Amino acid sequence: MTLLVTGTAGFIGSCVLRQLIAETQETIISIDALTYAGNPLSFGDAAKSPRHHFEHADIRDEPRMQAIFERYQPRAILHLAAESHVDRSIHGPAEFVSTNVIGTLTLLQVALDYWRKLPEPRKSAFRFQHISTDEVFGSLSPSDPAFEETTAYAPNSPYSASKAGSDHLVRAWHHTYGLPTLMTNCSNNYGPYHFPEKLIPLMILNALDGKPLPVYGDGLNVRDWLYVEDHARALRLVLERGTPGETYNVGGAAERANIEVVNTLCSILDELHPQGAPHERLITYVKDRPGHDRRYAINFSKLESELGWRPQESFETGLRKTVRWYLDNPDWVASVRSGDYRHWLEKNYEKRDA
Ligand code: NAD
Ligand code: TYD
Repeated sequence: MTLLVTGTAGFIGSCVLRQLIAETQETIISIDALTYAGNPLSFGDAAKSPRHHFEHADIRDEPRMQAIFERYQPRAILHLAAESHVDRSIHGPAEFVSTNVIGTLTLLQVALDYWRKLPEPRKSAFRFQHISTDEVFGSLSPSDPAFEETTAYAPNSPYSASKAGSDHLVRAWHHTYGLPTLMTNCSNNYGPYHFPEKLIPLMILNALDGKPLPVYGDGLNVRDWLYVEDHARALRLVLERGTPGETYNVGGAAERANIEVVNTLCSILDELHPQGAPHERLITYVKDRPGHDRRYAINFSKLESELGWRPQESFETGLRKTVRWYLDNPDWVASVRSGDYRHWLEKNYEKRDA
């Protein structure tokens, strides 16, 4: 039993990888281009497992993707590789369209060719699982109901527009060619190994350094937060029990205004790292993000009623675990800060070969 997983050096992909290696007997072929967001130190214990094979490859490289499918004959692919940061998409949208849209197109085409040649029963069992975001649904007002699977797409940022484009391709490849696809749209994740350009890890690391905590606009934009391990469990459940062609919303039942998130982080830090207390003094309001979506909220009752999934972690317990992890893992933090992880390939492969 072999699974392909893309984006395994990133935040969520590495969590999926670590969970699959720790909790199943499957062989995992992990694919990552190691962009600035990909850090092989995030493989954690999976790095040492003989059931983990890392392929340093770009999902837009069609011959390479074909070779990987042919060589490993996977039973499914979980596709997480993407450009994922909204602020970066505002400054450089082309890379987002290239990786998120063209990269997904490339994988769909390669997977379709592979799937068509599979003998039964492997053909019926094959799955192409696409991991997407709630941001494709656009922005809610405070009184709007939460996003459902049937909510119309209305992406507002170059990031969410490129993810919406990839979602539409996945839908079409199922509808037109019959490829057995699965799709999930999830709210904001947080937890260990999160690259410190996103709200929660950025605030933790800035607070530890005594640097300003930059809150965009009035700080009242609302996100729903899900602990990353819960997301990884949802993805595994959908892979095993989801219905091909269906989409599933995944959420944390934890809507919070950004300023509430930052205040809660400051209180946890005051307790766990009293040297810098009170950390709230570092909060600084800065100019808003252009086109900043006001509120996201997710209705995950389909996943709950059909597949029995609920988040196990509350926002408060998850946030505490997350702060603890950043305090306990100075090596990972230092590698990210110095950019040293970017020399990993050289260190791990070229010097070893020599
Ligand atoms: P991330 O930015 O931490 O990781 C993305 C990974 O993809 C990195 O390791 C990067 O090196 C790799 N990658 C980028 N371009 C590539 C390419 N062309 N070829 C191969 N690998 C490439 O992102 P994340 O937060 O782990 O998100 C993973 C997926 O989940 C994304 O598809 C994202 O849209 C989706 N998602 C994220 C969140 C969230 O809150 N982080 C929420 C919902 C959905
Ligand atoms: P982010 O982690 O970038 O996720 P997304 O934009 O995909 O939801 O941001 C989460 C929220 O936090 C979003 O409303 C923007 C806000 N934010 C800040 O206020 N300050 C920051 O420095 C960052 C990175 C984000």
